[in-house]
Amino acid sequence: MALDPSSLPALAAEYAHRPPQDILALAVEHYSPDVAISFSGAEDVVLIDMVSKLGARMQVFSLDTGRLHPETYRFIDRVAHRYGIDIQVMFPRPEAVQQLVSTKGLFSFYKDGHKECCGIRKVEPLIRALEPLSAWVTGQRRDQSPGTRAAIPVVQLDPTFGTPERPLVKFNPLSEWTSRQVWDYIRANDVPYNELHERGYVSIGCEPCTRPVLPGQHERAGRWWWEEETRKECGLHAGNVGEPAGTR
Ligand code: ADX
Ligand code: SF4
Repeated sequence: MALDPSSLPALAAEYAHRPPQDILALAVEHYSPDVAISFSGAEDVVLIDMVSKLGARMQVFSLDTGRLHPETYRFIDRVAHRYGIDIQVMFPRPEAVQQLVSTKGLFSFYKDGHKECCGIRKVEPLIRALEPLSAWVTGQRRDQSPGTRAAIPVVQLDPTFGTPERPLVKFNPLSEWTSRQVWDYIRANDVPYNELHERGYVSIGCEPCTRPVLPGQHERAGRWWWEEETRKECGLHAGNVGEPAGTR
């Protein structure tokens, strides 16, 4: 049975320091089969690995913006084969991409900011992916971004994509984990990872909007590096900065 939305803050406090596997088990118990992992990177495969070791199944989707690195496409395919799962790949609406590119070119984000392109290539497909679901699971962590993610709870009412009529629950089981813990888990469990991590990339998004970081730089410094720190949310997690997603 779905969790009572008013109970979520207390539950988040209770589960904050529990292992991520307990939070995933809670998501499976209350929302399976209407819950999915939103998959793109290292953290998300850790979640997929944990669910598989719990002996549970969860839907998995990935947002293909059309601008990902070739390495990322190979990685998505490798993960699907490794865990024997279907990854539902979501694409943007062709008319919307056509309109953007024919009016503003292929690299409008360097001039106008990333919001419009992310709205078309990520947020609108995400809204379609979330439509049939009651809950979703992300790999967000607090220490990914002191500016925008410092307060992410392990479970919350989705502040962006849920509505009072159709509440949507968002689980962030790794919210309290550090990057170090994620990578220790990956090595200890031989979890597949994006080969770009071997070339200095830490946080990986679309190819034109991601670059490797230098030693000592913060992990999200390589994302939308031409924009200021507090705007580095693409709309998937706009609620972190108290903003609407942009297309709703
Ligand atoms: S982003 O908003 O800046 O792009 P980030 O790369 O830090 O997000 O990833 C945070 C979480 O958002 C991931 O763990 C994953 O759950 C989700 N996510 C990000 N990008 C995608 C994508 N392309 N497809 C599906 N989920 C994604
Ligand atoms: Fe477009 Fe860059 Fe956003 Fe990808 S990250 S959807 S290329 S603005």
